Parts: sequence; C-alpha cells; structure tokens
Amino acid sequence: MTWFPERRQPTWLQRFCEAVLKSGPVPRHVAIIMDGNRRFAVKNSMEKCEGHVKGFDKLAETLEWCLDLGITEVTVYAFSIENFKRSPDEVNGLLELSRQKFAKLLEERNLIQEHGVCVRILGDIALLPRDLQELLAEAVTISANNDRAILNVCFAYTSRDDMCHAMREMTDGVKEGFIRESDISEGLLEKCLYTSHSRHVDLLIRTSGEVRLSDFLLWESAYSCLAFVKVLWPEFSIWNLYAAILHYQRNYGKIQIARQNFMIERERLQRESDHRYMLEEEAGICSKPGSPVDTKTSVLATNCVLPQNKNAQTLVQQYAKARKEREDTFLAHV
Ligand code: FPP
Ligand code: MG
Repeated sequence: MTWFPERRQPTWLQRFCEAVLKSGPVPRHVAIIMDGNRRFAVKNSMEKCEGHVKGFDKLAETLEWCLDLGITEVTVYAFSIENFKRSPDEVNGLLELSRQKFAKLLEERNLIQEHGVCVRILGDIALLPRDLQELLAEAVTISANNDRAILNVCFAYTSRDDMCHAMREMTDGVKEGFIRESDISEGLLEKCLYTSHSRHVDLLIRTSGEVRLSDFLLWESAYSCLAFVKVLWPEFSIWNLYAAILHYQRNYGKIQIARQNFMIERERLQRESDHRYMLEEEAGICSKPGSPVDTKTSVLATNCVLPQNKNAQTLVQQYAKARKEREDTFLAHV
C-alpha cells in the first residue's frame, strides 16, 4: 500500500462525530505506539511480517484521519533499538518493509508535497544499514519545507538512548567551552533531544492492551494524556481514534493546569539558578570545569532568595542573557 491511500467517503456519522470533536480542544501532537502486529498475524494465520505490513497500512490510514481532524503532528514508534534483539528474520523483514515504504515515498514525492507533510526521522540512524539510512535521509530532505503537518518516525529509537545522547552532547559542549557546567538544565537537555523541533505531545496512544511506554517519549510524555486502547494496531479504527480524542478532551483541563504549573516552576528554578551563578561569578568563582568552589559563597548562593533590589535584578538579567547566548551558540554547533 501507498502512504496516501484512496480516500473513502466518510459516512454522515463520521462527519457528525468529527464536527462534534472539532468543537472541543483537538490534540495538535499525537504520538502512537503501534503495538500488536504479531498478535494480529497469529490471530489471522499470517506470517509475522505480514502483520507488520498490515501495521503500515493502518499507519497510512490513521495519518489521513489525523489530517482531517486537524492534528498537525504525529510521532510513531516504528522500530525500537530493542527490536534489534528480535529474530534475524523479523528484523530483516521490518528493515525490508521500511526500505520498500520509503522508496515508495520517494516515488510518490509529488503526493507528499501535495499533502504538505514534513517527514522527520528520530533515532540513532547510524545503527541502520547504509542504504536505508540514505533512503531516510532523502525522504527527510525532499519534505523538509512542507509545513501542513509533521510525521516523526522513530527509528532505531529509545527514549533513554535519546537522553544519554543529549547528555553526551552537553558534556561535550562543556569540554569544548561552548557552555558552562552550570548551564546544564532540563530546558537545555530538552533542546538536545531528537524531538527538540517538536511541540509537546498532547496525546499518546498505545494499542494492543499493553499499559506501558516501552521506552518511548519518556521525557516528552511527562504531561501528556495517555490512552491505552485494547485493539491490536492493524485493527485500530477511526472510532478508536475518536474515543482517544474524547478521552483527551475529558482530561484536557487538568492536564493543562499541570503543564502550566510545571512551566511556572521550571522558570522559577531557572531564575534561582541564574541568581546563584551570578553571585558566584560576582565572587569570582566561575563554574568552569575544575574551578575551585568557595564553600562560603556556595552556601550563600544555595540559600539565596531571589534579589529584590534593582541593581541585583539587572545583574541576574545580564547573567541570564549571557547564558542564553552561550546556549544558542552551543545549539547552533550541535
Ligand atoms: C509492534 O508490534 C510493532 C512494531 C515493532 C513495528 C511497527 C512498524 C510498523 C507498523 C511499520 C512501520 C513502517 C514504516 C515504514 C514507518 P509487535 O511486533 O510488538 O507485535 P506484538 O505486540 O503483537 O508482538
Ligand atoms: Mg509488542
């Protein structure tokens, strides 16, 4: 099957449900763990790989439903680093399926431009065969300027691997002098993740009845609505998608409040950190690697409350500006 299957006319009931859902908050970024392909294959007396082929077909169909609903970003777990541990037959089958589908995507490049979909690959693609790496890179390049929707395909990906990779980027940044150790923060780590160009994940769906995240978007889903759906991925229907969106809408208010509180807290911690390191800088203790730490100043800095007087506030603002400049230079380098 193609990435852009022939559209079936929606029934009046589908149109009605779509209109009702669209009158409420629709998630803008949906992530999917497409689980249950092999169980589907067994259930239907097929080869395992056939289950993955059906899984791809379901993905193509689901992307159309998402576009119709106004979901502008979809992230799918296509191949985990853990999947390399499956039998060589299955791994080769999955890699071959991906080769075929990305080659098809390149053949259909006019369709991808027409639909305005930008494809991104998230993961350590160096772990993949060279020819597949090239296909993936070309798909990313030809679609890079499309801006109607984004499809992130997680390939040779796990979330913990992504976080380790981000940590390594930051420690290298410190060693190379782009940033200081004190610049390392949650906010900066987030900008080093594969998803750094994505908006936050609003809704994460996992099919097949399993209720865990399997190392998928662990960082990004901290404030996402989670929907665990009982059907196997190839059986996923538009009604399952509508139900997941309804679940998101029911929990929308609470999730928004939790996310806002988290953002406020994160900004407060950053201001506190800037204040602390500004004081250390003023005292002549730059937190460069290996620099001596003055216990007295550190205790003072750790216990400090945010500055009340104008002069100190200006100094903190100047420190924050310089820190952001260091971060920007570092991120441009990364
Ligand atoms: C999980 O089901 C599914 C996968 C490991 C592969 C998902 C891949 C696709 C749907 C194809 C995507 C292809 C492209 C080109 C994007 P499972 O194998 O764990 O099944 P089980 O849970 O029943 O064992
Ligand atoms: Mg599974």
